[in-house]
Amino acid sequence: MQRIYFDNSATTCLDPRVLEAMRPYFDQWYGNASSLHALGRESYNALEEARHRTAKAIGAQPREIIFTSGGTESDNLALQGAAFANSAKGNHIITSTIEHHAVLNTCRFLESQGFRVTYLPVDPDGKVDPESLKRAMIKGTILVSIMAANNEIGTIQDIRELGGIAHDAGAVFHTDAVQSIGKVPLDVGKDNVDLLAISAHKFHGPKGVGALYVRKGMNLRPLVYGGGQERGLRSSTENVPGIVGLGMAIEICMDGMEGNVERMGSIRDRIIMGTLSSVDGCHLNGPKEGRLCNNAHFRFDYVEGEALVLSLDIKGIAASTGSACSSRDSETSHVLKAIGVRNEHARGSLRISLSRMNTLEEADVYLEAIPEVISRLRAISPVAMLSKSSNPGV
Ligand SMILES: Cc1ncc(COP(=O)(O)O)c(C=O)c1O
Repeated sequence: MQRIYFDNSATTCLDPRVLEAMRPYFDQWYGNASSLHALGRESYNALEEARHRTAKAIGAQPREIIFTSGGTESDNLALQGAAFANSAKGNHIITSTIEHHAVLNTCRFLESQGFRVTYLPVDPDGKVDPESLKRAMIKGTILVSIMAANNEIGTIQDIRELGGIAHDAGAVFHTDAVQSIGKVPLDVGKDNVDLLAISAHKFHGPKGVGALYVRKGMNLRPLVYGGGQERGLRSSTENVPGIVGLGMAIEICMDGMEGNVERMGSIRDRIIMGTLSSVDGCHLNGPKEGRLCNNAHFRFDYVEGEALVLSLDIKGIAASTGSACSSRDSETSHVLKAIGVRNEHARGSLRISLSRMNTLEEADVYLEAIPEVISRLRAISPVAMLSKSSNPGV
């Protein structure tokens, strides 16, 4: 059976070129990057090359890149690090209601430590209104954190404008760019970003490695203390193979970005238009314009999202009901709630997320499967039956 992988916002497959680049650092050049001998120096040089590649991809200086264990740690280091380091200036933080849990739960923790957090609402497309950010800024606002693009519904935020507003008021601006990197052009200087989180496994790199961009001169308190690696901000012996993989993956991703964004965008559009036109009672979540080139997110009336994902899986198509992090609990997505989708409607959600490895032919296989899968699920849905008997027109 042909396997189609449409869950690339959860994670991506490793690019074979990335694996090749990483391989020698497992079994040949296994030295500790802090060691003085040749094996150590080889690791150190590989680490610095990866730092250059990562910095170049986002318009930063190599010294401004701190390697971490992934997006979650990068977000934690950014938020906790900036909050605690700036607590003498104020205790107010602003974020949005549709952030990833790596940001939201860190904000909850910071609230327990005496910080005050404002959670900005979003419009029905998932956009943060810059005016609402302006209104929320107060004298003691030390930090603003707004994601560059949402992992569930694909909304892209205008981070340049939001970052500018934060800076005008003297606050630090952090953005979670885990989903946008390689899909939305970015330059940390022009985009008014002080702290930016990325994660290698979202762009065909390995899992368990990420980076935080920390603007020169920024004051951060570390999360872990130890041997002082990564300029004292992230002690622990560096994950050299993983970091080499991140550097290679980000370089490949940036080299082909323009063409890949266009190609993914046309596959996404075929999926969106084909699904909406072939299935009644289907709605697009997130914006029509200004959404990630790899994201399509639907809700289907009278269908259970889990049953839909499993039915597609039987046909060899891997997709998800929402974000991977929330797909195993039955809580309604906080993102769908925030854009005003009612609980019972949110449960019939499907997220298709693409990567540069997907093809138009795969989209066509999905488009052939989806009307049949939906009508079969509706035929056995007690909710659809009840609704039909009370409203025969449905
Ligand atoms: C927007 C966003 N931020 C952070 C993360 C966490 O990244 P990681 O899995 O590398 O910890 C994810 C992962 O899904 C994400 O989508």
